[in-house]
Amino acid sequence: MQKLIQWIDARLPIVEAYEKHMSKYYAPKNFNMWYFFGSLAMLVLVNQLVTGIWLTMSYNPSAEGAFASVEYIMRDVQWGWLLRYLHSTGASAFFVVVYLHMFRGIMYGSYQKPRELIWIFGMLIYLALMAEAFMGYLLPWGQMSYWGAQVIVNLFGAIPVIGEDLSLWIRGDYLISGITLNRFFALHVIALPIVLLGLVVLHLLALHEVGSNNPQGVDIKKVKDENGIPKDGIPFHPYYTVHDLLGVGVFLFVFCIVVFYFPEMGGLFLEKPNFEPANSLKTPAHIAPVWYFTPFYAMLRAVTVDLFGLPAKFWGVVVMGGAIAILFVLPWLDRSPVKSIRYKGWMSKIALAIFVVSFVILGYLGIVPATEGRTTVAQILTTLYFLYFILMPFYTRIEKTKPVPERVSG
Ligand code: HEM
Repeated sequence: MQKLIQWIDARLPIVEAYEKHMSKYYAPKNFNMWYFFGSLAMLVLVNQLVTGIWLTMSYNPSAEGAFASVEYIMRDVQWGWLLRYLHSTGASAFFVVVYLHMFRGIMYGSYQKPRELIWIFGMLIYLALMAEAFMGYLLPWGQMSYWGAQVIVNLFGAIPVIGEDLSLWIRGDYLISGITLNRFFALHVIALPIVLLGLVVLHLLALHEVGSNNPQGVDIKKVKDENGIPKDGIPFHPYYTVHDLLGVGVFLFVFCIVVFYFPEMGGLFLEKPNFEPANSLKTPAHIAPVWYFTPFYAMLRAVTVDLFGLPAKFWGVVVMGGAIAILFVLPWLDRSPVKSIRYKGWMSKIALAIFVVSFVILGYLGIVPATEGRTTVAQILTTLYFLYFILMPFYTRIEKTKPVPERVSG
């Protein structure tokens, strides 16, 4: 074995790579449970890839056969129901995990210098993930697959001048059809997974270049021992590989309960109209995207006024796109001298709380049908969402922060 490793190592530096990224990657010793979600995101990614490949073996990507092939997977393919529920629940789990992972980053200022690129790659992952989920949702060819895609692709039509041609180009037809299904299938099973995997590799390479942040935002590289090893760092392997196994255990426990007992999650993970085959002549009474898109959908619907000769729909798309785009520049909006929320002032703490509450309520408002009152609430919350970012350069600069300790403590 030793000889084989030496033989390979002389041609491909596997030992060096293993040491750099595992046994000699020194991570801060004060990671808490918020640091589980990065490895859990990788676990869910693997689950999606594996179950996705097996689903593809029995799925039929045509307008005529798609819906029936999903029923066939559910009823006739051995363990097909499990494959499908692992994949559909996995999609929601992915967003749960990624939202918590992002929240951790925001809470501990992990996007701040020198980790801006980690954050940018993370945001690109988030975009790719949204595209992946959106395209995957068309594949079962149910009513909500069809009409959800219709609504979202039509949004591109709101862009002046090129809009109509752009949505036609995306669909490949004048309405969502088998042609659209075919291309979404290709993108969902081949193109986007490759992009996602590539981005995750870049995300981790960028992370290992500068090292992990921690709940206190203490720079562990400042205090090193005589061998140049950070005194507050511990090798990723075995310490955090074992630590992460605890997260994996708890996650799998909850995940399996959902897969086996609540795979539809009351219509939240698998929406009710999607048990009916797509019908281009019958619009469902209420069209709503899956829960992980609903905060942005609520923002889109919150815009109701035509401005500068352009329709409200266009401005809704601008607001929705802006809500995601503004996250990209977060590293440059935060001017605080400290990273972690623990040492920031009361303004940052209140702002973060308002931001989270607004996002969650917007998520709820995006699920339920719009009424006049709800639209007003969505307008207020959308404003608060943006104010969190727009005012950040000011409140992070003027507020009084607490001193950050030299060494990590907990
Ligand atoms: C497929 C999705 C993703 C995977 C597999 C992934 C994986 C990871 C892993 C394994 C880590 C190191 C462990 C940890 O700190 O939890 C990490 C760190 C990080 N990720 Fe992600 N990530 C994903 C998506 C994202 C997204 C969407 C963002 C934000 C937009 C993001 C931002 C960060 C940041 C800022 C760190 C450094 C955290 C720190 O050092 O405190 N990641 N990621």
